Amino acid sequence: MISKQTIDKIFSTIRVEEIVGEYVQLKRAGSNFKGLSPFHDEKSPSFIVSPSKQIWKDFSTGKGGTAISFLMEIENFTYPEALRHAAKKYGIEIEEDQREFSEEAKNAQSERDLLYKIHEVANNYYQSFLWENEEGKAIGLSYFKERELKDDIIKKFQLGYSPEKKNAFTEFALEKGYSKEILEKSGLSIFPENAPNGIDRFRERVIFPIHSFSGRVLGFGARILKNNVKTAKYLNSPETEIYHKSNVLYGLNQSKQAISRKNACLLVEGYMDVISLHMSGIENVVASSGTSLTTEQIKLIKRLTENVTILFDGDNAGIKASFRSIDMLLSEGMNIRVLLFPDGDDPDSFARKHPQEYVEKFIENQAMDFIDFKAEILLKEVGNDPIKKAEAIRDIVKSVGFVKNALKREVYLKEVSNKFGLSEQSLFNELDVQKQIIQNQNQHSQQQKESTPVKMEVVPLDEEKSDPFLYDVLFMENKLVDHMLMFGDVVLKRFDEKNGDYQITVIEEILNHFEEEQYQFLVESNEIIINQIKEGIQKEELRSGKFFVTFMDEEITSKVVDALIPLDDLENWASRNIYPPNYGDKVAEQIKGDVLLHKYRYIDYLIKETAKELGNVDEVKYYELIQKISLLKQASIRLSNIIEYSPIKGIYGDRMR
Ligand code: CTP
Ligand code: MN
Repeated sequence: MISKQTIDKIFSTIRVEEIVGEYVQLKRAGSNFKGLSPFHDEKSPSFIVSPSKQIWKDFSTGKGGTAISFLMEIENFTYPEALRHAAKKYGIEIEEDQREFSEEAKNAQSERDLLYKIHEVANNYYQSFLWENEEGKAIGLSYFKERELKDDIIKKFQLGYSPEKKNAFTEFALEKGYSKEILEKSGLSIFPENAPNGIDRFRERVIFPIHSFSGRVLGFGARILKNNVKTAKYLNSPETEIYHKSNVLYGLNQSKQAISRKNACLLVEGYMDVISLHMSGIENVVASSGTSLTTEQIKLIKRLTENVTILFDGDNAGIKASFRSIDMLLSEGMNIRVLLFPDGDDPDSFARKHPQEYVEKFIENQAMDFIDFKAEILLKEVGNDPIKKAEAIRDIVKSVGFVKNALKREVYLKEVSNKFGLSEQSLFNELDVQKQIIQNQNQHSQQQKESTPVKMEVVPLDEEKSDPFLYDVLFMENKLVDHMLMFGDVVLKRFDEKNGDYQITVIEEILNHFEEEQYQFLVESNEIIINQIKEGIQKEELRSGKFFVTFMDEEITSKVVDALIPLDDLENWASRNIYPPNYGDKVAEQIKGDVLLHKYRYIDYLIKETAKELGNVDEVKYYELIQKISLLKQASIRLSNIIEYSPIKGIYGDRMR
């Protein structure tokens, strides 16, 4: 594992603007840099990099963090992988720390590294076999030529060939020093008892390497060359430590730029579909590789675009697959269109038959929205049978139900209503029925959720909104923690009867307040931050924003970045519901006011919560609670008077309730 010293060195050497600058075109904006979010398609820049604080913030997706977390986000690296990548870029030598980690953890990391390495070796091996070996050229390369692939496209997708000899690759890898164990774990070789020299998984096949988002080889797909052989047409790598089929999309690495540039993604089924479309100049395409689409895969696309066009063969299997994919995509908030190819064509054959422009126009003009598409397919089967017709409509409404955005949902329902001449009301009713069914199905898991204690993470937004008391406390809790992160070390001059004139840091003052109230945090990450700050105080260090920026907890880092990033350089922030803090030189007053306001709202919240309990307690408890409420109410009135007559009121204006 990487030593703590090395990690510190990496963080002090790397420059967030340089690392991010490799992926995002950054322009100077005051003391910061600005650019278009790489995680979201947008026209006006909402992605900010602060060189002085060494952090970034993407206001369109809410993500933010250090250069290292940026690498994790954009390259799908783990934390240590991102550190190693950055160290390499800056020529920092990595010192390994052997002590802290268990043998097991060390082995796991080096095993992952070895698996990546062996796939790189295999990828080179299969490619050079295709281009340089007589067998490879005669069989593999000529197969690709038969399918009309050009040299440059074969190279772009790093296609290869695995020889006929039983253990050609295994032998090669063993000679290079890779162990039988790692070969077996990679799925590239097997070692049955009767074949101690091993057997290659892929033999006499053309090879399609499967890349990660950032271009590392994770596994392979391999196609037989003759169509009449009785074995599976494609043989794929098994699930390994580095290859999880459901998290990978074929072609994403080669297509990611075109997808984000065109703000649209074509989704096909097969390796050859991706490659042929690329060859005809259509480069915004990925394949689910025969598996049915997963949520993880959709999230990979969503980083680049929300617009997906599904291109499937018109056979029955293709249609069924597309139905499931439609619902999955809708529930992830994607906009979808669907296109089935005519006459037994698939994207591969179609792209080879027609010129690029024709194919582009065809996709543009023929792709239907999902309602038209489902209607066309389903109504074909029903004829004049009214019951079957109702069933078909119900099926379509069910898909609409997967749309989470209420506005979009309504637009779709309108469309269904127009299309079938049905009242919107009856469709809404149907949607409700569907919802009920889904809710019943989910009830079990829901019950489990309800039994966990109320922390912010499990308070759904709706509850937060519908309970203004809870919302207000949450709001102030977050604000106080933000103050600690932003101005933690600012020294305040205070006076009170007991102590006279004294000085206190922002961190201490707010911490004292939380302790006095024995305040129970509503947000778990706030609690973590406060505990860290307390621990710091015991060690006589003041832990403020900078400390937490390198704290490797995604939620906390992003919270800290939110507090630290200067908003004044962001144009148009009001339209994004982001309001800059109005501190100026009023820190001292602001803190005092916010502490009071938090207390005040917390008391209101407690009153309401206590009142809730009244309904189901015995008499003794009842009077206890009544007394508690009355004390809380008195405190509330006292506080409101203090707030009313204190100079801080001016800061809040009509935001006071
Ligand atoms: N597939 C698979 N195993 C099979 C068949 C298919 O893994 N036995 C996956 C492959 O990823 C394949 C995709 O499903 O690319 C779609 O299958 P198909 O349309 O049959 O493959 P094509 O890519 O069109 O292959 P080809 O045109 O070479 O027949
Ligand atoms: Mn095909």
